[in-house]
Amino acid sequence: MGERIYHTPNLERLLTYSPELHVLDTPEAVDRFTADQLIGQIQRKPNSVLTLPTGATPMGMYGLTIEAASNGLDVSGVTVFNLDEYWPLPEGHPASYARFMDENFFDHVSIPATQRHIPNCHAASPHAEADRYEALLRQRQVDLAILGIGPGDTCHVGFNEKKSGRRSRTRYVELDPQTRDANAQYFPDSSEMPRGAITQGVGNILEATRVVLVAKGQGKARGIQRTIQGPIGPDAPASYLRFHPNVTFIVDREAASLLQ
Ligand code: F6R
Repeated sequence: MGERIYHTPNLERLLTYSPELHVLDTPEAVDRFTADQLIGQIQRKPNSVLTLPTGATPMGMYGLTIEAASNGLDVSGVTVFNLDEYWPLPEGHPASYARFMDENFFDHVSIPATQRHIPNCHAASPHAEADRYEALLRQRQVDLAILGIGPGDTCHVGFNEKKSGRRSRTRYVELDPQTRDANAQYFPDSSEMPRGAITQGVGNILEATRVVLVAKGQGKARGIQRTIQGPIGPDAPASYLRFHPNVTFIVDREAASLLQ
């Protein structure tokens, strides 16, 4: 049976919450504001469990968090679960999200390796690996999940592409062609780009105590409009975030430009 689409305005109003939306003038202001959410979470709760993204969007956030750590923020108690990882890729592949996290965050802060989790891009079976990751996630309550949003009208969160259900769990998925086009730039030879990935499900993401979705630039404008103002359903997996009682959207003016 397909996932139900919630489009009756009155019913939707009863079932959903009003997300907090911050529209900031510049991408740099988005980076600062997002980093402050992450840093504030770690200050309030030094043993926070975090779900974190990769990609272009969070680079500034990681840079500012590294700066805070070098100025005394203690991140050694934090546990990280990454949202997703390509599959299959050779271990240590430069475009793997494991490498991204090492180069852009973990190599610069003191989070012990045992507290960093990401699906294994070279596991023999992506299904068994997804089950292993799901079991790990189920042992912990995620305090804060920080997400980007997919390109074009994919409205993906993690790699939950269209048709992902509200209750979906960690699993192997096929990437949308728009996602493959947008991310091919990170592969020296685009034929090396995997067709699939292992991702936390929408259901996993919705279980976090707080969710923050970040978007910058014109390329995210359609997705943000669809996510915040369109019907909630599997055509726009990010729209399911409107079922979460504590979700914050942080966007720059360009990403907000189609909001009415
Ligand atoms: C990556 C992830 C994806 C990205 C999204 C946006 O770990 O979960 O959902 O957040 O594809 O990517 P960028 O930030 O590169 O536009």
